[in-house]
This record gives sequence, structure tokens and C-alpha cells, in this order.
Amino acid sequence: MTMRTRPLGTTGPQVSALGLGCMGMSALYGEADRAESIATLHAALEAGVTLLDTGDFYGMGHNELLIGEALRAAPAVRREQALVSVKFGALRDPDGGWSGYDGRPAAVKNFAAYSLQRLGVDHIDVYRIARLDPDVPIEETVGAIAELVEKGHVRHIGLSEVGAETVRRAAATAPISDLQIEYSLISRGIEDEILPTTRELGIGITAYGVLSRGLISGHFTADRQLGAGDFRAMSPRFQGENLQHNLNLVEALRKIAEQKGVSVAQTAIAWVLSRGEDIVPLIGARSRDRLTEALGALDVTLAAADLAAIEEAVPPGAAAGDRYPAAQMAHLES
Ligand SMILES: NC(=O)c1ccc[n+]([C@@H]2O[C@H](COP(=O)([O-])OP(=O)(O)OC[C@H]3O[C@@H](n4cnc5c(N)ncnc54)[C@H](OP(=O)(O)O)[C@@H]3O)[C@@H](O)[C@H]2O)c1
Repeated sequence: MTMRTRPLGTTGPQVSALGLGCMGMSALYGEADRAESIATLHAALEAGVTLLDTGDFYGMGHNELLIGEALRAAPAVRREQALVSVKFGALRDPDGGWSGYDGRPAAVKNFAAYSLQRLGVDHIDVYRIARLDPDVPIEETVGAIAELVEKGHVRHIGLSEVGAETVRRAAATAPISDLQIEYSLISRGIEDEILPTTRELGIGITAYGVLSRGLISGHFTADRQLGAGDFRAMSPRFQGENLQHNLNLVEALRKIAEQKGVSVAQTAIAWVLSRGEDIVPLIGARSRDRLTEALGALDVTLAAADLAAIEEAVPPGAAAGDRYPAAQMAHLES
């Protein structure tokens, strides 16, 4: 299979049109199967996926160690093609709690030193703070990453979940390859201001939550039991009446998918792919089956009539519930 590619902004690398988001292999979506996670990483690399996304706080280093292990065991040609995008800055505690973000320059360099070691690589391809540290101007955080770029420890600088003004300030400090931000049929908040800004500045988008964390994958059911520590157990969109409302949207989408002979997840991913060549969806597959399904979205063409039907079934703002619990919404600029 020849994988299509897309540029990560005007200054970033060319990457596979779909990236693999590895978070769920270590954290936030309940138990993951380690052997299946490694097999999924290998299958993705073999299919031509070159962009692997992680965060140093996903399982407190677990996710980076997992990716490092998978890369070491991969054929050299695949390993050399792989680009690892790392988020840092989230502060955790031994009970799994979250206690803010640290974007001070000394902290940035400390986080990077540990990530390089855990991943077992000599550079990080894209490095970004996961959320803005309200106590540290973005110029200082981005400036510290720019120093890491100068020294060869990092190749490109990214951003995550920041608003248009912060994007501008960051881009005035150093070249920014991409903004990682939630974007899906039911999370369209970036369209009014953020997307026009990134386009004006030549910054790419790596879109996460393309399936709204499984909610609009077509596989999620109202009776699914979510374990402790599963983000979705606290997510407003997965609660009670909100959940039922959102699953009704999925059923409307399913009718369109069935008419096209594709799955709901493929339709949702293809919709994000259709939004522009500057957008690279991250798919959160953690099994080979899910990966195969997600990669199938690359073969789905949505004609104007399909797009219109999708918009009618799931209009902007159709979802019930915020995309994060209130405490986490407070860390978002977007
Ligand atoms: N910058 C940020 O703030 C931020 C935030 C969140 C995530 N991210 C990054 O973005 C990546 C993707 O985010 P996400 O995991 O929330 O994305 P997602 O693709 O919206 O959700 C992944 C979930 O969808 C389910 N799913 C069902 N069918 C699927 C299929 N065919 N392919 C893939 N998943 C399917 C998976 O379920 P099962 O595994 O249960 O079957 C998994 O729980 C993460 O791994 C992480 O690297 C970044």
C-alpha cells in the first residue's frame, strides 16, 4: 500500500495523511493490551504511517517506553521513516492526578532529556507543550524548544490546544509546524478563528479526537462499562441524556455510511481528511482491527452530496455536552 502524505505546515516534515495517536495504549481509555499495542504500532509502520503521537505524561512515561520498544523491534527502514511527536508539560502525581502545567525553560529541557532517554532516540521530531502554562509566556516556552532545535535535540516545534492569539505569538518567536487540537464532526470549534489563523501563518493541524474518543466511532454503546481512570467516565459527552443524544447523531451518520458501504468511523475520519490538505487526523487505534478500519478512511471519497448529507445529519454544534469536564476546560484557550 502506498500511503498518502501531507505536509505538517510550511516548515514541518511531510507525514502520512493519518498519524497514529498512541495515548490509549497507556492511559485514559481503560486497560490496554501491551502485545497488541506493539503489534498495532508495527502494523501502522508497515502500512506507511510515519507520524506517531505521544505525551510524556501518558502513563507517566509508559507510552514513550512502549513506542521506544516498538521502534527498536521494527525493521530499520520503518524505524528511520518514523516521526515521533511528543507533548510535555503536564504535571502528574503518584495517584494519577493532574496538577497543572510547567512551561518554564528549565522544565522544558528537563522534560526533553527524559523523553529522549525513554524513547531511545537522539532527537524528537515534533515537541510541544500540551497546554499553555498560564504563568509562563508562550515566547519563553517556545524559545526554550527553539534552543533544543538549535542543539539538534528537537526538529520541529508544535503547539497544542491554544487559541489564535497564542498561535500568533508563538509563530512570531520561532517556526511552528503544527497545532494539535481537537477537531471532528462534533467538535468544530476551530473553524471560526483558529483554522483561518493557522492557514494564514502556514501552520498545519494535527487533529485529535476525530472519533470524539470513540463516541462517534459507531462502536460505542450506551451500556458500555467505563472503568476508573477512563476519561470518558467523566466526559460530559458520555453522560446520561447527553450520551443518548450524541449516539442518536451517530445513528444518523450510520445511515449515510451504510449507503456508501463504509463504516461510521471511516466516514468520520474521511470527513476530517476532507477539510483540507493542511489537516492530519491522529487516529487513536490500539488494536490492529481498529487500525485497519481507520486506514480504510483513506480510500473513502466524500462527494459534495455526501458532505451535504453529513452536515445535515450532524450539523455544527449538534453534540450535547462540553468536550472536557469543567476543570479541564479551564486549561483550554480554544
Ligand atoms: N493534544 C491534546 O490535547 C490531545 C488530547 C487527546 C488526545 N491526543 C492525541 O490524539 C490521539 C487520538 O486521540 P483520541 O484517542 O481521543 O482519538 P479518537 O480516535 O477520537 O478516539 C480513539 C477511541 O476511538 C475508539 N475507536 C473505535 N473505532 C476506532 C477505529 N477504527 N480507529 C481508532 N479508534 C477507534 C477506540 O476504541 P477502543 O480502543 O476502545 O476500541 C479509542 O477508544 C491520542 O492518542 C493522542 O496521541 C491529543
